[in-house]
Amino acid sequence: MSKVRQQLSDVRLVRGDLLDQGSLISAVERVQPDEVYNLAAISYVPMSWSQAELTGEVTGLGVLRVLEAIRVCSGISASRTPGRGQIRFYQASSSEMFGQVRESPQTEGTAFHPRSPYGVAKVYGHFLTQNYRESYGMYAVSGILFNHESPRRGAEFVSRKVSLAAAKIKLGLDRQLRLGNLSASRDWGFAGDYVRAMQLMLVQEQPEDYVIGTGVTHTVQSLVERAFEVAGLNWRDHVVCDAAFIRPAEVDQLCADASKARQRLGWEPATKFEDLVTMMVESDLELLSAPGGLADDSFGHDVW
Ligand code: GDD
Repeated sequence: MSKVRQQLSDVRLVRGDLLDQGSLISAVERVQPDEVYNLAAISYVPMSWSQAELTGEVTGLGVLRVLEAIRVCSGISASRTPGRGQIRFYQASSSEMFGQVRESPQTEGTAFHPRSPYGVAKVYGHFLTQNYRESYGMYAVSGILFNHESPRRGAEFVSRKVSLAAAKIKLGLDRQLRLGNLSASRDWGFAGDYVRAMQLMLVQEQPEDYVIGTGVTHTVQSLVERAFEVAGLNWRDHVVCDAAFIRPAEVDQLCADASKARQRLGWEPATKFEDLVTMMVESDLELLSAPGGLADDSFGHDVW
């Protein structure tokens, strides 16, 4: 049995729906967790314009429902009667909350100016987590994570769209890559490093919020340049700008100041941007070269 399969066989799945309060209460009652990580959301930013109400329900109000499930199952009453034990809660906040940035780099104290219904919903979840901490004394924290990628990233996000396209073109499976805004900049890091930070946030004495990012920002164009270089291709021969992928309102530039996480959690990202892009392109070359590697036909199609 492969290592991943063996690890998965240790995982017990319990059904729950962010739109259904009762299902979340049942799940928390059944599992009696020490820690809850809310990583669930409609997370693809463009979809939040076409399904703004659903994004508000899932990405915003979903946080309220998880917090309520924890509050009720911990026996914390609305009048703040001390509860039984402490379930620690992690909320996946996002650098998209900074949106049109007020200062650079962004810290835990930087004001928010979200630029999409997704970003607005994340701001609601962020402040609600803070409010439950202050109202009920819950150990509830938000990690304000900047873009974090890996070979498991969904194909609709730009890093994976680019790594898959570079690999497909290299293998003669495609010829062109259509992209939107090449000049947007992001602080891209490796998801594995960021999961380590999430876990560290839940084992501190005091619950606090943290910015997590590398402190280095790159344009979409430099992501493309690097990915095509790894594949041994010239990106200019294949990349086409397509207005269909331009967003109604863009977040032009994000860059994290993760000093607080470095000082208090001892957290440092271990993976550099260049190595991350190399890892993703090499992984996609291997995936697409394997028999049946492209079995999932949704790979490489942007969903808007
Ligand atoms: N997806 C996509 N597709 N993005 C493109 C494209 C394209 O064809 N062309 C240019 N871009 C630009 C987008 O306009 C954006 O500026 C940037 O690439 C990154 O887009 P995404 O990879 O879709 O990520 P995101 O920054 O919008 O959001 C991701 O990171 C957030 C953390 O800051 C998501 O994972 C969010 O859920 C997460 O909160």
